Amino acid sequence: MSEAAKKMDGIKACVFDAYGTLFDVHSAVGRHRERLGSVADPVSAMWRTKQLEYTWLRSLMGAYEDFWQVTADALDYALETHKIEDESLRNDLLQAYLQLEAYAEVPATLKRLKDSGISCSILTNGSPDMIKSAVDSAGLADVIDHSFSVQSVGIFKPDARVYQLAVDGLGVSAGEISFQSSNSWDAVGAAHFGFHVAWINRFGQRRERLPAQPEVELADLNGLPQVVGAA
Ligand code: LAC
Repeated sequence: MSEAAKKMDGIKACVFDAYGTLFDVHSAVGRHRERLGSVADPVSAMWRTKQLEYTWLRSLMGAYEDFWQVTADALDYALETHKIEDESLRNDLLQAYLQLEAYAEVPATLKRLKDSGISCSILTNGSPDMIKSAVDSAGLADVIDHSFSVQSVGIFKPDARVYQLAVDGLGVSAGEISFQSSNSWDAVGAAHFGFHVAWINRFGQRRERLPAQPEVELADLNGLPQVVGAA
């Protein structure tokens, strides 16, 4: 039986990572690609990598800072590395992060889940303002029931206190939640916490060598309704 055909039993809520899973983080650079020229893709990749590294490092240092600041710091690092000194472009890139594109299958998949009685929520490193802006601009407000931000616990994923936010906020057990992330380390963290996890392996990555594994792997969200019994 292929992994994609596996089913999870007793799922009441689907909880989604935001950046990289629902929203395409590279669509920010995509909007200003011509202004960045040949370094557009390396800047975008470094921006994302540094952003995540800074979350892990700040968590370990006990030096939490709002994800908006972390995102700006990571962008500044990436632009300096590629020798781009253009304040206007820098500000436009940062603003574009508030209006990222949702992946194509996201609206219809979430609607299908909701129509079958499964709630859909976001659990993210993003600050409440960032995530509200992204949800509104992508037209997802009608299909997202709740958004949970790490801001209320002051530490980033994959700290267990972050995943606990969804359990407490939704009033269901961890075993009744299916968590979806394209970020392999986030999928592992959520599995280690005790969620059912579908790793949305959008980028064809290998499995992490870490002490937990997602139980389902999908290439995108299209197969999710079937996995959680909503199809
Ligand atoms: C988030 C990052 C991990 O949305 O993508 O939490």
